[in-house]
Amino acid sequence: MTDDDPDAATDADADAPDAAGEGDTAVRRDRFSGGPAREFLSSLAADAAIFEADLAVDRAHAVMLAEQGIVDDAVAGEILAALDGIETAGHGDLSDGEDVHEAIETAVIDRIGPDGGRMHTARSRNDEVATCIRYRLRGDLLAAVEATLTAREALVEVANEHGETVMPGYTHLQPAQPTTVAHYLLSYEGGLARDTERLLDAYGRVNRSPLGAAAFAGTPFDVDRGRTAELLGFDGTVRNSMDAASTRDFLAESASALATLATTLSGLAEDLIVFSNKGIVELADAYSSTSSIMPQKKNPDTLELTRGVAGDAIGEATGTLSLLKGLPRAYNRDLQRAHASVFEIAGDVREATEVAAGAVATADWDEGALAAAAGEGFSTATGVADLLAAGGMPFRTAHEIVATAAETVSDGDSPDAAAAKVDEAARKVTGEPLSAYVSREDVASALDPAESVASRDSAGGPAPEAVADELAAAEAGIESDEAALAAERDALADASDTLDAEVDRYV
Ligand code: ARG
Repeated sequence: MTDDDPDAATDADADAPDAAGEGDTAVRRDRFSGGPAREFLSSLAADAAIFEADLAVDRAHAVMLAEQGIVDDAVAGEILAALDGIETAGHGDLSDGEDVHEAIETAVIDRIGPDGGRMHTARSRNDEVATCIRYRLRGDLLAAVEATLTAREALVEVANEHGETVMPGYTHLQPAQPTTVAHYLLSYEGGLARDTERLLDAYGRVNRSPLGAAAFAGTPFDVDRGRTAELLGFDGTVRNSMDAASTRDFLAESASALATLATTLSGLAEDLIVFSNKGIVELADAYSSTSSIMPQKKNPDTLELTRGVAGDAIGEATGTLSLLKGLPRAYNRDLQRAHASVFEIAGDVREATEVAAGAVATADWDEGALAAAAGEGFSTATGVADLLAAGGMPFRTAHEIVATAAETVSDGDSPDAAAAKVDEAARKVTGEPLSAYVSREDVASALDPAESVASRDSAGGPAPEAVADELAAAEAGIESDEAALAAERDALADASDTLDAEVDRYV
């Protein structure tokens, strides 16, 4: 037997005199040679992340083997009882091994003798590990989905309080047009809603069972792949056995969805860092940090770390694709390195999402400072040009007038003073006064940030009534995604109850 693992071990293997039992078994001797590469070969430590998953997979497989008459009910009962004991003892109690699959099998054999070797009938570690990864990742993805929902709720809650709070909107980090805090926050709710959708979409493809594919080439045993899928809560199988055992595209897809979420958060974090630097937002102490040497400082460290997590998540997505690129069918040991870091980054991104949500929920939006900043930099210029165009002037001429006025309008000008400057510019550019197109009062009101916001009431725009529609749509979207999350979780809990009940029939 080579180091390759093509064997879906057979009953005959398990019955051979030295194939199982105490001491130096075939599993230990041939598959785990030890020596200088011992640590390098072993994934046992990292496999702590799939210890519970492997036990569930072993249980579902053992139940199916008994149901199909491939192992006796009594032997299945002994195997299942041994798995309970192994679970109680914990991952730390497993003996050295190449991986958790081998170590658990060894522990079963240690507890019940050679019949424990029947557990690996009609499967391989290749389909086993692929199933474990998917089983574990489902929980990570759903936890990330939940965090996006919490963040979306926080954004909607703060937006609800600030439907009329005017703030500057920036392009190129320069004041561009006034908007509202609600409109700004809902822009991130929209992004996070797509992040939720991407994660749920990836979940649908993760949630398929490869079990029963064996090494890649199927098995002569009459396995019921649909049954193990059902007992493990999977929504069907990955049909082709070579695809099932070898693909990790679901890891790349999950890592990408997580990296995209982290990138959304990173933008939000960067904005809040800039806004707190400008003094228009103040972060709560709980989300800030101070300097070990400069006590006057209140630093937005939580948001900087959120931004940092995005770098790691992007690295994970590219790292996963790089690892997978060019791997030949069907199984290569490179794959052992593909999943642990995805579980880890899923946890980091979930945590960053929760922290960003908390930072937004507890930040203080300084209405006075926001209103003052909203009028800076002649940010209502576009609104004035729009007004002139609506009054019949070609937009390009209106733009030219406002551009000319921008040379003289300054931040301290009252709306009336600024309107007088626009009038002057109109005479210069067209030879006509503004009153040929619009009243001076209308210009003064277009120059007011709050009026400017109120006038932009196109669908999805910042005017309070347009934002009210957006808020309602955001709330409805959150509710339906919450229902989708609950449905997935219920399906997993039901399957777990079914598996427990089936196991109890044998133990
Ligand atoms: N620990 C291995 C992994 O994670 C399990 C599969 C080993 N299969 C093999 N043919 N060597 O990929």
